[in-house]
Amino acid sequence: MTTTEITYVGSPIDRVDGLEKVTGRARYASEHNPRDLTYAAPVQATIARGEVKGMDAGAALKVPGMIAVIWHGNAPRLAPSDAAELSVLQSPRVAYRGQYVAVAIAETLEAAREAAALLRVEYSEEAHDVELRADHPRLYRPDHVNPRLPADDVRGDPDAALASAPVVVDATYTTPAEHNNPMEPHATVAEWDGGGLTVHDSTQGPTALRGQLAPLFGMPPEQVRIISPHVGGGFGSKGLAHPHVVLAALAAKQVGRPVKLTVTRREMFAVTGYRTPTIQRVRLGAEEDGRLIAISHEACEQSSTIAEFAEQTTVATRMMYAAPHRRTTHRLVRLDVPTPSWMRAPGEAPGMFALESAMDELAVACGVDPVELRVRNEPATDPDTGLPFSSRNLVACLREGARRFGWDARDPRPGVRRRGGLLYGTGVASSTYPAYRSPSQASARAEPDGTFTVRIAAADLGTGARTVLTQIAADTLRAPAERVRVEIGDSALPQASIAGGSMGTASWGTAVVRACEALVRELERTGGVVPPGGAEASAATAEEVRGQEKYARHAFGAQFAEVAVDADTGETRVTRLLGVFAAGRIVNPKTARSQFVGGMTMGLSMALFEESVMDARFGDYLNNDLAQYHIAANADVRDIEAFWVEEDDPHLNPMGTKGIGEIGIVGTAAAVANAVHHATGIRVRDLPIRLDRLV
Ligand code: MOS
Repeated sequence: MTTTEITYVGSPIDRVDGLEKVTGRARYASEHNPRDLTYAAPVQATIARGEVKGMDAGAALKVPGMIAVIWHGNAPRLAPSDAAELSVLQSPRVAYRGQYVAVAIAETLEAAREAAALLRVEYSEEAHDVELRADHPRLYRPDHVNPRLPADDVRGDPDAALASAPVVVDATYTTPAEHNNPMEPHATVAEWDGGGLTVHDSTQGPTALRGQLAPLFGMPPEQVRIISPHVGGGFGSKGLAHPHVVLAALAAKQVGRPVKLTVTRREMFAVTGYRTPTIQRVRLGAEEDGRLIAISHEACEQSSTIAEFAEQTTVATRMMYAAPHRRTTHRLVRLDVPTPSWMRAPGEAPGMFALESAMDELAVACGVDPVELRVRNEPATDPDTGLPFSSRNLVACLREGARRFGWDARDPRPGVRRRGGLLYGTGVASSTYPAYRSPSQASARAEPDGTFTVRIAAADLGTGARTVLTQIAADTLRAPAERVRVEIGDSALPQASIAGGSMGTASWGTAVVRACEALVRELERTGGVVPPGGAEASAATAEEVRGQEKYARHAFGAQFAEVAVDADTGETRVTRLLGVFAAGRIVNPKTARSQFVGGMTMGLSMALFEESVMDARFGDYLNNDLAQYHIAANADVRDIEAFWVEEDDPHLNPMGTKGIGEIGIVGTAAAVANAVHHATGIRVRDLPIRLDRLV
């Protein structure tokens, strides 16, 4: 195929929607104010387990401007659904503290909130169990872990290999529950009109959300329209429908007027998903020179009583390093907690903290440099599937990162670099993320005025998706980018996969390329003359995606951290963080750098700060706001640099891209923890690396 002359792909062009965003013209979900709008204020359960017995709305209904109170006693019936979290107000059962049990609807947000506060909910409370433990009696093996991978995988005889290995590392690592906190909280404006439902929503996937919402209301998908042109971050928490969307639609149906429901930051800690806490035991058996003989990685994690969300914590361990004997397992316990969900690099982020910390412990035990240790364990083919890698440049990332970081001069001894009151150390860890692609559709239109319109129900979470799709379309059409308009964020557009799994650009880009190629062929037939009514072509990629050659497709990276630890207080600062990634062709160096640096910043945040603390007595995550749930702020980010190695991989997609949205957070926390060990001699195996874990 020679129709694509690369000009825009590879260029650091500015965001096509940048001006709209900085001037406030870009409208987000909660900024839509249809006529006759009403406001919803949800009520959250104050018990962790039990039943709603009654509702006294007397005082609430007297609030001026009050319209209605809906609870399970008077809620419209939804169609039965497997998605228990979405069966909002359909049952008196309370499955976790913070679950929506009622909603007040009023003429103003203030009235709705006042009324919600006046509602008296009567409960019958039952004893709850909210604590994840490795010896929990109800731990079980799920049938699958996300995204439908085997829960357990055993190769060879890991126990025998560990028993006879010359060097063994056996350690348990824990990661806490963490909550996605995108800048824009979730928000929904729902409106019924002539039997159809229109929803302005902050979502990572208009097509997917429509597919979840329509059956609940007994409607075909075409009668539901999801509009989401701009989204202020998601990190996975806007990838699946959450209860507030259903609640808004249900309330709008009940009151016969549009309803706006803006989820508060505090509500988000119960109703929009979070990363499960994990307890992970890793055992590595190796030769004296560090070559692995056996890897065992066993994870315990939690889900709610109403839904099974089984995070794929140990799956990266199946493909990272060569070892003849290997075991990876997942055990789950269903607790009286909110349902976990996706949070940036679900599985890989906590799992690689454990594996890459254990690799550092092995490097110390063998007296082998941690970069060299990883190079020595590089597999020839994918240890999981046996397939060749489409491309695998982990070693190149490690070498290039070591060169840029100045790793070679490193003295391996821990706890010996003291300047003033600070102990300095450096650490390294590998990163990886799978390169997925999902079927999508797109259309491309040549307008009579010489411009082009490309349509696809993609979502731009602030990543630059709209911009890179414009670049991809312009190159395929051989048109100036200024003449290409890409319309996304609307389920009425050709259907598309979600902005998740780091597969947006690969999935949507394939559809955009194919639609634009079809349009170019169409225009070639008419001698390049656009007919008065314009010309249009469309494409669907299901066959292409299904039929792709068999390869193991993954992005790789290496992250290097330098830390300074206060010898008296234990306060840790990441003074330098440097990542080198191999992720196929980089479409836009400017937006890509932001993605990598953003992921690494979130990884730094995971290493040092983020921790949702369960209050076992009340059965709730108690630090449910940004005053108490700490995330890295500007002052915490001293020096973060991201680079990439050129990768020309012909086995991916027409653009040659791998995903870049999530890999930046993978391995980061291990690089920081390994640096802390190098600085202090203290091995912190429990995130976050708090002061009290170092003194
Ligand atoms: Mo991402 S956590 O797959 O949206």
